[in-house]
Amino acid sequence: MPKTIKKVGVLTSGGDSPGMNAAIRSVVRTCAYHNIECIGIYRGYQGMIEGDFKEMGPRSVNNIVNKGGTILKSARSLEFKTSEGRKKAHENLTKAGIDALVVIGGDGTFTGGLLFNTEFNFPVMGIPGTIDNDIFGTSHTLGYDTALNTVVDVIDKIRDTASSHNRLFFVEVMGRDAGHIALNAGIGAGAEEILIPEEDLGLDRLLESLQKSKASGKSSSIVVIAEGDKIGKNVFELKDYVEANLPEYDVRVSVLGHMQRGGSPSCFDRVLASRLGVKAVESLLEGKSNYMVGLQNDKVALTPLEQAIKGKTMIDRELLRVSDIMST
Ligand code: F6P
Repeated sequence: MPKTIKKVGVLTSGGDSPGMNAAIRSVVRTCAYHNIECIGIYRGYQGMIEGDFKEMGPRSVNNIVNKGGTILKSARSLEFKTSEGRKKAHENLTKAGIDALVVIGGDGTFTGGLLFNTEFNFPVMGIPGTIDNDIFGTSHTLGYDTALNTVVDVIDKIRDTASSHNRLFFVEVMGRDAGHIALNAGIGAGAEEILIPEEDLGLDRLLESLQKSKASGKSSSIVVIAEGDKIGKNVFELKDYVEANLPEYDVRVSVLGHMQRGGSPSCFDRVLASRLGVKAVESLLEGKSNYMVGLQNDKVALTPLEQAIKGKTMIDRELLRVSDIMST
C-alpha cells in the first residue's frame, strides 16, 4: 500500500532555466488545491541537507509565473553525493514531516532523486528543467523554448552589424552535450552553418561552405556553434583558422553564455511548467514514484526516472538538411 501523502517538498537543482518558477508555482498551487501542504526546499539537495525549508501556500507564489531564475535558488551539492549527506537530508525531511518530493532539474537532479528513493524508499517525481533540451522522455524541457527565442533575438541583432560590415560571425551557444539550441536557433536566425556535438561537420566542409556563401553574393555570414561541438577547435581557434585559410573574411566571435539561461519564460514554457507541476503532484497522490513528467506528442506523459537518466535524446536529422537547403 503506498503511504498517504500529506506534505510535498519541492526543490530546484542544477543549472537554472526559465520556467522553473512557473513549475514551483504549479506544484505549490496543486498541493493547495488538493488540501495538502507544500514545503519549499532552498538550494536544491544542499538545502535538504541543511534543513533550509519554508512553508509555501498558494499566495507565496504570486507573480512569479513570469520570472526567470528560481526563487528557491539552485545548487550542485557535492555533499548529497555522500551517503552521510543523504542520511542527514532524510532525517531533515522526516523531522519536517515531508513525505514526498518533486525535484526540478536535469539528469544530475534525477540521479540524486532516484538514489534517494532507492536508499530510503522515499516517493520522488521529476520535472525536466534545463535549457539544453537533452532529457530523454520529453520533447521539451522547461526553459528550452525561452532560450531559443533569446538566442534568435540576439543573433538577429548580430546580423544587423554583421551585414553592415560584411563580416562573418561565429556565435557560440550553450549545449555541452546537445545541439538542440544551436540547430533550432540556427535555422530560426538564418545561420549559414551550424556546428553541433552530435555531428562532425569537418573543417574542410566548413571552409567550402563559407567560400560558397561569399561567391553567391552574401554580405554577411553567421555560423552557430554549440559549446560542445565535435569539430575539435574552440570558437576562437576557429576564427583564427578561418582567417588564415579564407583571408577574404573579416571574422568576429560572440559567446552568448549565461544570458541564455535568464529572462522571462515564454508562454510555451509557462504553460508547460503549469501542466507538468499538476501532473507531478497528482501522480504522487496516486501513489506513483520514480517518474519524470514530460511532454510527448503534446500530451503530458510519465517516463521512469531511470530511463530519463540513461536514455539519449536525438537531434532531428531532417533539420540538418533543412539548414543546408536554407543556406543555399
Ligand atoms: O543548463 C545547462 C548548461 O546551460 C550547459 O549547456 C552549460 O554547459 C552549463 O549549463 C553551464 O552551467 P554552469 O555555468 O552553471 O556550470
